[in-house]
Amino acid sequence: MAVFMVLDITMKVLNVVGARPNFMKIAPIAEAMKATPGLQGLLVHTGQHYDAGMSDIFFSELGIPRPDVYLGVGSGSHAEQTARVMVEFEKTCLQEKPDLILVVGDVNSTMACTLVGAKLVIPVAHVEAGLRSGDRTMPEEINRLVTDALADLLFTTSRDADENLAREGVPKEKIYFVGNVMIDTLLKHREKASALDMLSPLGVKRNGYALVTLHRPSNVDDPAVFTGILEALRVIAETLPVVFPIHPRSRRKIEEFGLDPGRVQITDPFGYLEFLNLMSNASVVLTDSGGLQEETTILRVPCLTLRHNTERPVTITHGTNILVGTDRERILNAYRRVTGGDWKPAGPPELWDGHAGERIVQVIAGSRN
Ligand code: UD1
Repeated sequence: MAVFMVLDITMKVLNVVGARPNFMKIAPIAEAMKATPGLQGLLVHTGQHYDAGMSDIFFSELGIPRPDVYLGVGSGSHAEQTARVMVEFEKTCLQEKPDLILVVGDVNSTMACTLVGAKLVIPVAHVEAGLRSGDRTMPEEINRLVTDALADLLFTTSRDADENLAREGVPKEKIYFVGNVMIDTLLKHREKASALDMLSPLGVKRNGYALVTLHRPSNVDDPAVFTGILEALRVIAETLPVVFPIHPRSRRKIEEFGLDPGRVQITDPFGYLEFLNLMSNASVVLTDSGGLQEETTILRVPCLTLRHNTERPVTITHGTNILVGTDRERILNAYRRVTGGDWKPAGPPELWDGHAGERIVQVIAGSRN
């Protein structure tokens, strides 16, 4: 009599998200995983971001399934937040017994879940590996270094990231240059976003306003730095409308320091589609966000980065990004140059083509054997 054995070759992957920039990165990966036989993706939301405007809206707009597991860790100091994610995520891992943990980006949840995986000897895949600002005062830089030191599969968005990893001794076989999942999401939703009417309610015109985001502790937690940046924005707002959808942390700092935004229009944070619409139509973006440096590169909107370094140099060499720093006069000079037409639109960086999520999932599926 023939004996048939059914082999269980399903690979269970815990896809981790925690904070706002993680959601658009996980969306194309979760989608590609769902379409791949033999892979079972479960979504774990750590709850690092929890306000509806910082979290829920991204799930509904991007069609991300509801999280299978919600850890509810919330805010706290770095140690508190990291520790809470670790304690809760360890329980999830012990219960779910995943074959792989997939983390994205560089937030505290990324590092915390990687540490848990490494200690439980569960392989970890890091999406957006190898980015380095060289600035260890940035919490994200610590998260990147720790995550990449421990990860087993490292998916990169650019060649410079591969070089950084090689320099740090990461074996070549672990590194996969796959492109940029954030850009997968942008290209997929660009048309839908363009159909929204965002400009008239704000009283601004296409190519007739500056869009601002700021939330880095180094910019908003120091009253002198935040004051200087806000002064530059106030000067700009005298001649061009300035729209500033504000992170809860920055709003609190404006109140705490008693800062006067002048004619700068401060709004609540927007959802993904709304913000994409605003970014696409802006004459210039001023930001300290990592993701916006990448998105403006594809949208061909000039981007002034209000930081002293960037972990995304490809947005400068291949994109619209200009590193400006935080000094009031330097911001204003760069703003005048760019709005005077002195900036270079550039081609998209290699493999930022809308298919990074599929490439990642192919590699993961191939790692089963
Ligand atoms: C985190 C990430 C940062 C990312 C940013 C995107 C780290 C170290 N930082 O920074 O890399 O660019 O998310 O937004 O992981 N808060 C709310 N509602 C929320 C979430 C936060 O009010 O839903 C407030 C809380 O007061 C909290 C503060 O914002 O203390 C900061 O939140 P936190 O998650 O610690 O860091 P972010 O500044 O958001």
